[in-house]
Amino acid sequence: MHSADRQTHPILCVVGARPNFMKIAPIMAAFGSGPHALPARLLHTGQHYDEAMNHQFFEELGIPRPDINLEVGSASHAVQTAEIMRRFEPVLDAEQPAAVLVVGDVNSTIACALVASKKGIPVIHVEAGLRSYDRAMPEEINRVLTDQISDLLFITERSARANLLREGIADERIHFVGNVMIDTLHHNLKRAVPAAQTLGRPVPGQGYAVLTLHRPSNVDHSDVLQSLLETVNGIALRIPVVFPLHPRTRAQIEKHGLGRLLDNPNLITLPPLGYLQMLGLMQQARLVLTDSGGIQEETTALGVPCITLRHNTERPITVDEGTNTVVGQDREKIMAAFAAVMDGSGKAGRIPEFWDGQASQRIAAFLHDWLGVE
Ligand code: UD1
Repeated sequence: MHSADRQTHPILCVVGARPNFMKIAPIMAAFGSGPHALPARLLHTGQHYDEAMNHQFFEELGIPRPDINLEVGSASHAVQTAEIMRRFEPVLDAEQPAAVLVVGDVNSTIACALVASKKGIPVIHVEAGLRSYDRAMPEEINRVLTDQISDLLFITERSARANLLREGIADERIHFVGNVMIDTLHHNLKRAVPAAQTLGRPVPGQGYAVLTLHRPSNVDHSDVLQSLLETVNGIALRIPVVFPLHPRTRAQIEKHGLGRLLDNPNLITLPPLGYLQMLGLMQQARLVLTDSGGIQEETTALGVPCITLRHNTERPITVDEGTNTVVGQDREKIMAAFAAVMDGSGKAGRIPEFWDGQASQRIAAFLHDWLGVE
């Protein structure tokens, strides 16, 4: 496509799974109005489809209704990725976008990037360059491959540039803009649902911990899942633990017959929460235990101590500058990090550079010039 044509064709923005929604919301808002408005359309692959995993986020975050929904649903990685690709190709032919914008590292990200790049349509990757260096994580494979075929790579922290340069990506394609997910956090803090409302009772005097678990490496193996839940029961002896359950985790607990480990009045299980409920719950928490990528960043932005139940993180700035401690799955290490937070010797942290609520405006300003929009 000649650069003159780019002005009149929209950018096709892609979302698929829950962690994409808080990233696309501020981008669509910046494209929709304001100084850097530009034509954009929204496509949902339908990777996540439940009310609690999907629709609620669109409403709360004011994301426009998708122009296109591929409705792929759940399947194995191969089938899900292939099905997104198969359904995305005719859409690209019909839409002829100026570029395809993908966010994060889910199967929808790589599937749509791959189809676009083979058709010669520029790919824009928001949240590029994060690396756990753990290829057992499906998201790591999605990140590495998406970055290889992206034309513009917007990064959230400076370490991402070094990762990308090491993989042979040209420096001029990489742009440090900050963290769009933290834009969403800034925009919504005032609207966060108070924890007492979500809990249906006053916040306990000694505070509470929040727990999230959904990574296959933590929940798909019964011995690992059992050990983690036993450790959490140990933590719940000292402080109530609030545990919103991802559908995958609920299914695995049932499959492995571990439901008895949830049978503890100090372990408060909840269904998957909406964004504003989760934000309020994290903001008021004494600490958060998680295997999520996004929550490591949100807790750093909120200044709430985070204990990451993984062996690595692709978001090292949350450890170097933020409130995050990466401990893995080992009971002793988790309990030691927990004790440090309870003693008040947890990490205070500071807000990383450009996590200031303006990342999407930086992206829109850049693309405005890049597209040559008048
Ligand atoms: C996906 C992302 C992961 C992200 C997570 C957040 C990939 C490779 N992984 O993992 O990076 O952190 O989303 O949630 O893309 N399910 C429902 N309803 C839904 C969606 C899923 O019940 O709306 C159940 C299904 O049983 C499904 C399982 O959850 O098989 C897993 O969903 P899937 O999208 O395959 O992966 P996630 O584990 O959610």
